[in-house]
Amino acid sequence: MNPPLLVTCGLPYTNGPCHLGHLRTYVPADAYVRYMRRAGEEVVFVCGSDNHGTPIVVSAEEAGISPRALSEHYHRHFDETFQRMGVMFDRFGMTDDPATHRRTKAIVSELIKNGYVYKRIVHQAYCTKCKRFLPDRYVEGICPHCGTAARGDECDQGCGKHLEPGEIKDPVCKVCGTKAEFRDQEHYFFRLSEFRDFLLSFLDNVKGTINAKNYAIGWIKEDLHDWCITRTLEWGVKFPGRDDLVVYVWVDAPIGYIAFTEEWAEKAKKDWKRYWCGDNRVTHFIGGDIIYHHSIFWPALLRGAGYGVPHAIVASGMVKVDDHKFSKSRGYVVWTNDDYLDKGLPADYLRYYLLAYTSHTKELNFSWKVFGERINNEVVNIFGNFVYRTLFFAHKEFSGIPLRTVDPTIIAEIRKSLVNVDSLMRDYEFKGAVDAVMALAAFGNTYIQTNAPWKLIKTDREAAAKVIANCIQIVKAVAMLIEPVMPAKAQMCWTMLGYQDKLADHPVSEATEPVVETSLMSPTPLFTRIEEPQIAELEALLQKRVAEANRKMERIPVVSFEEFQKLDLRTGRVLAAEPVKKSNKLLKLQVDIGGETRQIVAGMQQFYKPDELVGRDVVVVTNLAPAKIFGVESNGMILAAGDTASLLTPFKPVEPGTKIR
Ligand code: MSP
Ligand code: ZN
Repeated sequence: MNPPLLVTCGLPYTNGPCHLGHLRTYVPADAYVRYMRRAGEEVVFVCGSDNHGTPIVVSAEEAGISPRALSEHYHRHFDETFQRMGVMFDRFGMTDDPATHRRTKAIVSELIKNGYVYKRIVHQAYCTKCKRFLPDRYVEGICPHCGTAARGDECDQGCGKHLEPGEIKDPVCKVCGTKAEFRDQEHYFFRLSEFRDFLLSFLDNVKGTINAKNYAIGWIKEDLHDWCITRTLEWGVKFPGRDDLVVYVWVDAPIGYIAFTEEWAEKAKKDWKRYWCGDNRVTHFIGGDIIYHHSIFWPALLRGAGYGVPHAIVASGMVKVDDHKFSKSRGYVVWTNDDYLDKGLPADYLRYYLLAYTSHTKELNFSWKVFGERINNEVVNIFGNFVYRTLFFAHKEFSGIPLRTVDPTIIAEIRKSLVNVDSLMRDYEFKGAVDAVMALAAFGNTYIQTNAPWKLIKTDREAAAKVIANCIQIVKAVAMLIEPVMPAKAQMCWTMLGYQDKLADHPVSEATEPVVETSLMSPTPLFTRIEEPQIAELEALLQKRVAEANRKMERIPVVSFEEFQKLDLRTGRVLAAEPVKKSNKLLKLQVDIGGETRQIVAGMQQFYKPDELVGRDVVVVTNLAPAKIFGVESNGMILAAGDTASLLTPFKPVEPGTKIR
């Protein structure tokens, strides 16, 4: 007998809200689980939030709350969002809860016992001002591989490589901007390099998507080095026997998968070991950005600690927005709640789009326009139309479902779809599976169109009844098959067919079983079109966000207090002013800066008459390097605000030459 199927999803970090990129892990996993259950498999579906690591500590510091409080906030947020999206985990835990702490300590101790962990001195970035070591996201600098600006643990804008502690060049403290220095520090390393042969044979056998295998094999052949698995942080799972160190977040995060299974099993009175030890069917759904962690690091950890290794790794292509890499700071982001659900758009439309847009391993380039088109042309026009026409006609002409023997050709068509969908789902070809269901709906649409029961009924009522009975059977089948993709809409369709129970409790194989006597309802359309103005509004919102982000990104360099103090700013009194010859912009001013008169050229001719300025107190940068402007010497600069050169003047009277500080 097959071991039970355990499906997990990449754990969301608790430092920000759910976005469309996240959903490409969760929605397909949920659809897969729903399908496999209805294909008769025993499936457990676990996930949880990833609470540790520096991004969470940094965000918590910024928000002025504890990392635990921040994590609880976003944990609830993800939990609620998943429910709104119809993503139903059996357990959604937290990696900061005791189960993950406990399991991590057990696994790390096991790795130590088995000789896979050793100590080594690393040159770790250290901030002399904040007086602390700078792990991971606390430090920014230059990638040693490609020279792009990078974060401490990852070259996120450049080559995408994972960076080990101490590797980053020109490190700067992210918190205070001080140039960091390297200091020696003792850390613990995991002998990942010793798992080369194991990993190559593991990857040869592992199921899932081809990208999760091929990239990993490439990376292993290129270079497989040991990983530093400790960090100098307060927040995290303590390294056994060292109160000053926590384990790297990528150690305890995947161990969360096991811990959440334990938490679930305890409640369900099951044995978690059945899922994780020995022969298993652990299936990880992840995004393409974390293949290294799941295809290389994680199986090696499991192997080193004596656990079963994953059965399948299913990695999605990345989600982009309007052809740009997903980026919160650049504004290329679509928030699940703010931008979608809260606008009243149905979760099922987004589920459909995420699954049907392209094959799972390909990049998904989101745009509101294409989203609207696909929903209107496919879901509304084909699927919705077919269901509505059929039910409407049955209700109107027969006041219920005309129960007739369904044509064998129709049953054969449904059976073909069932077989197709089954093999595509098992191959993680979600788009193919959705397309197969839609093809059945399109077949139904063509069938009703060519047989035109609305004409037949005038001459041959029985023939019309037979056509509608065939159509009803197809409606039943498409409702059953689309449930993993659009669970709420499928249930609505089921209820309209007159069934009183839950569609999700019926195996898909019932799609070919005859429809029984039900109390068919007067149908309402399952779907409504997404109208042009709404799409335009959503697009405008996205563009506004990108524009705002661009403005913020015009980086203003940070100046230290010492640097600021180098500026000599003083009040000055304008003694004389005249236009600079041959210029229609410049004024030549004589300014008393306290016992010394300075000649300063200022671009103010359009805004002030020379006489207006005489006697005024202004703010002068007195130690600006001298310059010649239009052949006139200028020894300083007058401060003014904005496009109209509104002069800055002291609020209370002060002597010329008063220092500004
Ligand atoms: N916390 C880690 C995962 C630890 S798993 C032991 C993480 N968190 S995340 O919040 O950044 O991402 C959560 C899930 O969403 C991951 O599966 C990730 O691959 C996926 N995605 C996040 N952004 C994505 C896109 N833009 N596109 C596709 N999936 C991406 O990674
Ligand atoms: Zn790089």
